[in-house]
Amino acid sequence: MSEVEPFRQLEAWLEEAKAAQPFWADAMVLATTGPGGAPAARAVLLRGLDERGLVFYTDGESRKGAELANDPRAALVFLWPSHERQARVEGAVEAVSGQETDAYWAGRPRGSQLSAWASHQSQVVSGREELEAGVAEVAERFGGGPVPRPPRWVGFRLVPVTFEFWQGRPDRLHDRVRHRLDQGGVWRAEWLAP
Ligand SMILES: Cc1cc2nc3c(=O)[nH]c(=O)nc-3n(C[C@H](O)[C@H](O)[C@H](O)COP(=O)(O)O)c2cc1C
Repeated sequence: MSEVEPFRQLEAWLEEAKAAQPFWADAMVLATTGPGGAPAARAVLLRGLDERGLVFYTDGESRKGAELANDPRAALVFLWPSHERQARVEGAVEAVSGQETDAYWAGRPRGSQLSAWASHQSQVVSGREELEAGVAEVAERFGGGPVPRPPRWVGFRLVPVTFEFWQGRPDRLHDRVRHRLDQGGVWRAEWLAP
């Protein structure tokens, strides 16, 4: 495995994974910490990747939103069985600008937009009926017009300080290459024992 610049490596692995298995190739497990440092993890979809970081969108008032507001440090894991690959990314999240979030929101299907209004993510609800009634209510409220972005629907960008690329190899002698930002802001690669 080459030690190319980590953003390029991640993009290349994503493209190869999508070519082999497009469904959920861009799903990543997001780990955060809650009260007392208790870990929590859930999947989110990668909605933007460039040298600024990895973007996902969510309900800022969800459990993950509250946890990230309290401690912005987070870890992401991609798993691509098609290529026996894992990629890990660690860093801290920052808010995606309102303008960028609005642009992404505008491209979402209307049904997803209505559901975002009706669903206060991570809150307890009585069941599906309550959710469907909520969607019907907001559909009526917005009529045929555009559905604005709920203020609580936000984007986070994880700004990496560490990447690790894991490539399965025979006899358990896998490749692991970690990239870390040094003091001067230069990415340094090092091999880790598998
Ligand atoms: C493949 C997959 C992708 C998902 N993508 C997102 C996403 O991009 N944003 C999101 O808020 N939830 C997404 N979810 C739902 C989350 O896993 C989770 O259930 C939800 O965000 C609530 O998490 P929380 O209670 O920890 O905040 C996805 C779930 C799956 C299985």
